[in-house]
Amino acid sequence: MKKVGVLVSGRGSNLGALIAAQDKAPYRIVLVISNVEGAGGLARAADAGISTLVIPHKGKTREEFDAELDTTLRAAGVEIVCLAGFMRILSDGFARAWEGKLINIHPSLLPAYKGTRVHERVLEAGETQSGASVHFVVPKLDAGPVIAQASVPVHPGDSPEALAARVLAVEHRLYPAALRLVAEDKVRMEKGLAVFV
Ligand code: GRF
Repeated sequence: MKKVGVLVSGRGSNLGALIAAQDKAPYRIVLVISNVEGAGGLARAADAGISTLVIPHKGKTREEFDAELDTTLRAAGVEIVCLAGFMRILSDGFARAWEGKLINIHPSLLPAYKGTRVHERVLEAGETQSGASVHFVVPKLDAGPVIAQASVPVHPGDSPEALAARVLAVEHRLYPAALRLVAEDKVRMEKGLAVFV
């Protein structure tokens, strides 16, 4: 049973999916940390009886904030860290220290559409397909090796909100499945690749 820490900044629907799946999965979420007080994800965790913590980032350097995160996660015995709508860029040092143990979900078919305003940009470009990706985190933004992806169609006349909702529904299935693979050591990061073993 792997101990998981989840970092959130917002509503935490992906956290909710990870919580819902954990009874039948080889991981336990032992700590949820947010940099934002009142983030919806904190309430979801508390409702599930999971320890929560707010670590504000204001007034700290990125390195100071990340050092506090690192110490807290390690003190809780966390073995895998999941970013779930965590809206802070992590320092290179943090990403390297947790390499292979730090994963993120992004609402696009990476390597396409890294960064923000994903659904708007997908629609502006006239794509007919979008999706979600779970990847290992490396120092470069949204650039780590992909563990799992799921695609959804883009419908004519889609709004960014409609597309986001369609993608989010697959995110909620994809993230627990990908975390399970990492928790079972069925995939690991090796030489910049996600290697299935
Ligand atoms: C999701 O779309 C995720 O892919 C992105 O941020 C959003 C978080 O949503 N990284 P939620 O907080 O999990 O509901």
